[in-house]
Amino acid sequence: MSATPLLELRNVTKVFQSGVRKTPANMTVALRDASLVLPDGTATATAIAGESGSGKTTMARLLLGFIKPSEGQILYKGVDITKMDKAQRLAYRREVQPIFQDPFEVYNPFYKVDHVLTTPLRNFGLYAGEEQKRIEEALEMVGLRPKETLGRYPHQLSGGQRQRIMVARALLLRPRIIMADEPVSMVDASLRATILDELRKLVSEFGISLLYITHDLTTAYQVCDDIVVLYQGTVTEVGSVEKVIRDPQHPYTRLLVSSIPLPDRTQRWGEDDSAITEEQARRSTSGCRFAPRCARAMEECWTQIPPLFRVDPDRAASCFLRKDAPVLPSEQVGQVLKVMRPGDAGNAPAA
Ligand SMILES: Nc1ncnc2c1ncn2[C@@H]1O[C@H](COP(=O)(O)OP(=O)(O)OP(=O)(O)O)[C@@H](O)[C@H]1O
Ligand SMILES: [Mg+2]
Repeated sequence: MSATPLLELRNVTKVFQSGVRKTPANMTVALRDASLVLPDGTATATAIAGESGSGKTTMARLLLGFIKPSEGQILYKGVDITKMDKAQRLAYRREVQPIFQDPFEVYNPFYKVDHVLTTPLRNFGLYAGEEQKRIEEALEMVGLRPKETLGRYPHQLSGGQRQRIMVARALLLRPRIIMADEPVSMVDASLRATILDELRKLVSEFGISLLYITHDLTTAYQVCDDIVVLYQGTVTEVGSVEKVIRDPQHPYTRLLVSSIPLPDRTQRWGEDDSAITEEQARRSTSGCRFAPRCARAMEECWTQIPPLFRVDPDRAASCFLRKDAPVLPSEQVGQVLKVMRPGDAGNAPAA
């Protein structure tokens, strides 16, 4: 495994300004000092989880280079994506492929689905002369029959088929990373498991790293090795999905986890929302974003932003309740992720 990560988000903050003037009310900190590392040489599945507005899509769009960080850097194969030469940029755009929430949006209803598959090949100048063969292969990889798929218009396919076409489209480009933002939220429950299985296969069979963005911890647990939990743009907890979901350490993660049905979860934490006074809920915080909702908020939580504390070798939580553990600087977050953890090298084949 190469020491240089494949893709790295390093101390990234993203502030959106909605009005013309820079008043605090006009500024949204969508992401604050967030770091993430996807290693080279080993494929991993990482979930980015959190409730609506927590910054998940912002993180994905930053990693895809669609928006620029306000602070911090995004590096692909060690190169800052804002400083790439033409060849580096082309490789990055091909090798990091998004799959979006709503496949309807990206389909032009007047083009046959073939168009969605041939256009990227043409744009990247890939597989000249054998496009058809490669397209059929990619469709088969995601369980679609080329004969029943090609030549059709989007409205002649089901939502699940459309979503699989998006996976096939991403696969065609032989990416190193697939970034799937709520890929199954528009798909009915019966198909959800199949598509998630296919995403998981990208990692285990094709050696492609997966970033799975979701508000749904159950599927994050099924599909991923690692998880990053976001709350109002801050990373509350990060590391092994097993640890974070089975035994969360941040009160926010506990709240999230307590609302999901896990088959054999034994832990109950007794986090009690009713202990929160109206005054607390209204109090503004310059420290932990979660303080107004935290039954265990202490005085320091309101004034200081908690760093990540490495509570386990493979997990960190940004909560002063765990300040007994060593501080993990944001940019060293890779240390608690699967492939960087000592004695826990990854297992999937390289792409
Ligand atoms: N272009 C933008 N301009 C201004 N504010 C934005 C913009 N994009 C996102 N935001 C704000 O940044 C915050 C994070 O948004 P983001 O889309 O990343 O959330 P999310 O976690 O993906 O939510 P969801 O689960 O609803 O998709 C929100 O408060 C959102 O309103
Ligand atoms: Mg989103």
